[in-house]
Amino acid sequence: MSVSGKVAICPGSYDPVTNGHLDIISRASGVFDRVIVGVVNQPVRKQKTLYTSEERKAFIEQAAADHGLGNISVEIFSNLLVEFAREQGAGVVIKGLRAISDFEYEFEMNQLNRMLAPDIESMYIFASARYSFLSSTGVKEMATFGGDVSELVPPAVASSLTDRISRDSEG
Ligand code: PNS
Repeated sequence: MSVSGKVAICPGSYDPVTNGHLDIISRASGVFDRVIVGVVNQPVRKQKTLYTSEERKAFIEQAAADHGLGNISVEIFSNLLVEFAREQGAGVVIKGLRAISDFEYEFEMNQLNRMLAPDIESMYIFASARYSFLSSTGVKEMATFGGDVSELVPPAVASSLTDRISRDSEG
C-alpha cells in the first residue's frame, strides 16, 4: 500500500538509532512516498545527548542506505515538530509505540501537537514484537556495562558505542 504523494516525518532523538527505530522507519517508507527522519538537535526532556545531531543523522543515513531505503532523507531540526513538518511539506507525523508505557507520553505529545497544528496528523505504528523492549537508553546502559548490543543497533553504532561511552564518562 502506498499513500500517493504523501510525505511523513519520523521524528526522534535517535541517540543512537536502534534496529527498533529502523523497523518503524522502514515500515513507514513502505506506506508513504517519502519519509523524512527528523533528528531533534537537542531534546528538551533529556540530558545532553551522547552523540551530536550530525553523528546521529549520519548513523541513520548509513543504516537507511544499508537497508536499501531509497525514499528516506534525514534532517536535523531545532524548532517545533509541527513547524518542521510544515517546512518539509509533510502532513503526517509517524511515531512508534512499543508498550503501554509509551502511551501516556505520546498522548500528551499528540494533544500538544494537535493544539498547535490541527492540520498535521499524527499516526502510530506498533513496534514489532522483537523490538518491543528496545530503547536507545537501554542500549546505552547495556554498552556501559560491556553487554553485546550488536543485535540491537546498526553495525556502525555498535562499533562506536563502547568508545564513546568511556570517552563521555571521562569528560
Ligand atoms: O525520541 P524521542 O526523544 O521520544 O523524540 C522526541 C521528539 C523529538 C519527537 C520531541 O521531543 C519533539 O517533538 N521535539 C520538538 C519540540 C516539540 O515540537 N515538542 C512537542 C510540542 S510542545
